[in-house]
Amino acid sequence: MDNQSAHGMWSSRMAFILAASGSAVGLGNIWRFPYLASDNGGGAFVLVYLACILAIGLPILFAEVLIGRHGRKSPINTLLGLSRETGHSPLWAVIGVMGMISAILILSFYSVVAGWTLHYAWLYLQQLLGGPGITDGGATFGGMLGSPKTLLIWHSVFMVLTIGVVAMGVEKGLERSVKFLMPALFLVLLILVGYGVSTGHFGKAAAFLFTPDFSKINGDVVLAALGQAFFSLSLGLAGMMAYGAYLPRSVSIPQAGVAIAITDTSVALLAGLAIFPVLFNFGISPTGGGPGLIFTSLPMAFADMWGGIAYGLAFFLLLMVAAWTSSISLLEPPTAYLVERTRLTRANAAMLAGLLVWAIGIVTLLGFNVWSEVKIGGKDLQGAIEFVASDIMLPLGGMLIALYAGWVLDQKLTRNELSQLSDGLYTAWRWSVRVVSPLLVLLILVQKFSG
Ligand code: PFF
Repeated sequence: MDNQSAHGMWSSRMAFILAASGSAVGLGNIWRFPYLASDNGGGAFVLVYLACILAIGLPILFAEVLIGRHGRKSPINTLLGLSRETGHSPLWAVIGVMGMISAILILSFYSVVAGWTLHYAWLYLQQLLGGPGITDGGATFGGMLGSPKTLLIWHSVFMVLTIGVVAMGVEKGLERSVKFLMPALFLVLLILVGYGVSTGHFGKAAAFLFTPDFSKINGDVVLAALGQAFFSLSLGLAGMMAYGAYLPRSVSIPQAGVAIAITDTSVALLAGLAIFPVLFNFGISPTGGGPGLIFTSLPMAFADMWGGIAYGLAFFLLLMVAAWTSSISLLEPPTAYLVERTRLTRANAAMLAGLLVWAIGIVTLLGFNVWSEVKIGGKDLQGAIEFVASDIMLPLGGMLIALYAGWVLDQKLTRNELSQLSDGLYTAWRWSVRVVSPLLVLLILVQKFSG
């Protein structure tokens, strides 16, 4: 018998794969991955990143989804229920609490950055209709960051879009939107890669991404790659646990998980292969671009290229869509929790959680202008929130989830949830979540903070 979640269920395996891939594929792939790769040694970073996805990301993805499916509730209540059922301490629910805090923090800056993409799409739309163009990418980006009003408007629009989908629920909101948005995203991305190929600089971009210079691998690069692996696969904050709760029992978690990881990784690599050729073609160095890379450099290339305005519009809309399907998965866990714990309707719960995120986002966006002097550990407010949430809290959360799946849950339970794995692969999975992943995460964090 397949028990159901009170919040609704995915209607098919494909719906889950699309929604979870929608969560995974986001600003992390198209905005964060290219600038992290170029700032951390290109191929060296990519190699470590791929290793992290395979050895740590995939096993933890299975763990999150199976815990979610077994519990069928929001992450905190799933962990509480499972711990009680197996006679373990309810303190394990702290993973869910930490995850919810990370989700709220990440969404608060994620929405601000998604707002940048909306602003840029708007600028290109105006240009298409005969308005003034972006001629100086740096000035446009700087001007936008310097204007709290512009940032606030687009951050607010984006939060309204996100709350709207989550308020409509699992099938009518989440599932219906990803079914339409994900194929659109792939289409635009493929067109952009096609353009990259036509520039004649595709080979250089591929070499930049795939030729590792091992001397560039150090603690910072490994921590950044690990953090990005968690961020990109939406792991460590129990977001995949929340989506797993709506997964029918007939769906194979390993199969769906592999499909999600392949989709996510290929989109990151494809985004690199779409962006770097364009930069090289216009003689722009990608290194040192930081978070502004695609917002300052790409428009310079767009300004020079044939059809650049339409390309710019398509690119930033693509980014917005990718961000949207991810942000709904960040708002889902707190919303589901509020629905379970209060008498709020789903719509009101989504609104309340969204309002909190929106308010924290204002702190982030003021950090770019009014509070630009404020630095935490040498980082601006957004950088600091991003670092703590993505590079520290996600790996820590992931480590706890791995330990929970490996040591707390009964082996019979996990074997049953992963029944499609061969004995050998199941043993490999169990080793990864019991020992390898927690140890690697711990080593990387300790190494980073001791030196
Ligand atoms: N995976 C998303 C991205 O790569 O942009 C970001 C994200 C979404 C992280 C959802 C965590 C999460 F739960």
